[in-house]
Amino acid sequence: GRLERAFNISDLRRLARKRLPRPIFDYIDGGADDEWTLKRNHDAFADYELLPDVLIDTSSIRSETTLFGQKIAWPLILSPTGLTRMFHDDAELAVARAAARHGLMYSLSTLGTTRLEALAESFAGPKAFQIYIFKDRGLTAEFIGRCREAGYHALMLTVDTPVAGNRERDRFNGLSIPPRLTLKSMLSFAMKPSWSLPALTGNKFDFANVSHKVDALAGRQMSLFDYIGGQFDRTLTWRDVEWLAKEWNGPLSIKGVMAPQDAKHAIASGATSIMISNHGGRQLDGAPAPVDQIAPIRDAIGDSGEIVCDGGIRRGSDVVKALALGANACSIGRPYLYGLAAGGEAGVHRALGLLHEEFERTMVLAGVNDVAKLERRHIRMRSWLSW
Ligand code: FNR
Repeated sequence: GRLERAFNISDLRRLARKRLPRPIFDYIDGGADDEWTLKRNHDAFADYELLPDVLIDTSSIRSETTLFGQKIAWPLILSPTGLTRMFHDDAELAVARAAARHGLMYSLSTLGTTRLEALAESFAGPKAFQIYIFKDRGLTAEFIGRCREAGYHALMLTVDTPVAGNRERDRFNGLSIPPRLTLKSMLSFAMKPSWSLPALTGNKFDFANVSHKVDALAGRQMSLFDYIGGQFDRTLTWRDVEWLAKEWNGPLSIKGVMAPQDAKHAIASGATSIMISNHGGRQLDGAPAPVDQIAPIRDAIGDSGEIVCDGGIRRGSDVVKALALGANACSIGRPYLYGLAAGGEAGVHRALGLLHEEFERTMVLAGVNDVAKLERRHIRMRSWLSW
């Protein structure tokens, strides 16, 4: 059907735009301020050329690797995204199941719409939980215990959200959580019945992992949203990372690190891994593209920690470039959300399948038969100074 005629992530994005009301699509697709960083995240990959080796036996490609102590089939993981149920009724579970089918790791967001215990019971694959250190440290400590109990393999601490980014598309669209029928949204919802009918019935946009904290407000998600907004803590420092690392005592990635100095800080504070990320261009507009920070951060931390490049990956070849520059793996957000919105679990499966095909073909064409053999010499910086 439609999914089989999507040949890349951009095709899936188009299908998602067709199925979703405009405000919902824009919530996935948009970024902060002028969306300069959002655009740059992907465009920056074009500054790196792949310099292939030829006459190498590529009859089989070794793609398996280890990340956060877990085996993954190839160096890709799925980033945490909040409110996933807004995009498709099958929500986080559909994404996690597709990831497990591909041997990849799934990360559940604190702001997800599925309880972490329920998710862990429903699929056996490698899984991480994205945590925030909230003003209420008790809530964070509680998450650590619940994640250990439920068998999560790693924690991911997001540090680029001391305040919400300025998402002007959402403001223009009057997006509310949960989406409400207003005069303005009515038309866009009425035009997309395959989304609207399941999505607008029932109590579905609950922050399932946090809602017990506000039982007194049961059923009033706007207030829950305000509650969470009030939990972001601008007083956080590396001290808090040390605390978290000690409490968790397992694979811990700091998500949102951009500067080499901060990457060193993260490792010194007890993290095992860095996710180079600007939150997909949704927070600080003007931040550089993650891919541009891989080499400097690898040079800064050496082999003392794992590096994940998060943001702007739209092709399998982007992953090959990131690995050659020194990343252990890449992470994707929107690419799987477009797939989910386009066709539920099958759509996510399609997105991951396309990226994997592209990845393997690029490895063959680049003449590299093992992900461990990708090196900086496979990259040539494109520059208008050198022809
Ligand atoms: C996100 N992201 C995100 N990050 C996080 O740590 N916690 C969260 O709850 C969310 N929620 C979220 C929702 C949506 C709709 C998007 C698009 C993104 C950021 C996400 O984890 C990741 O950093 C980016 O999506 C990576 O960029 P790409 O792959 O979308 O270009």
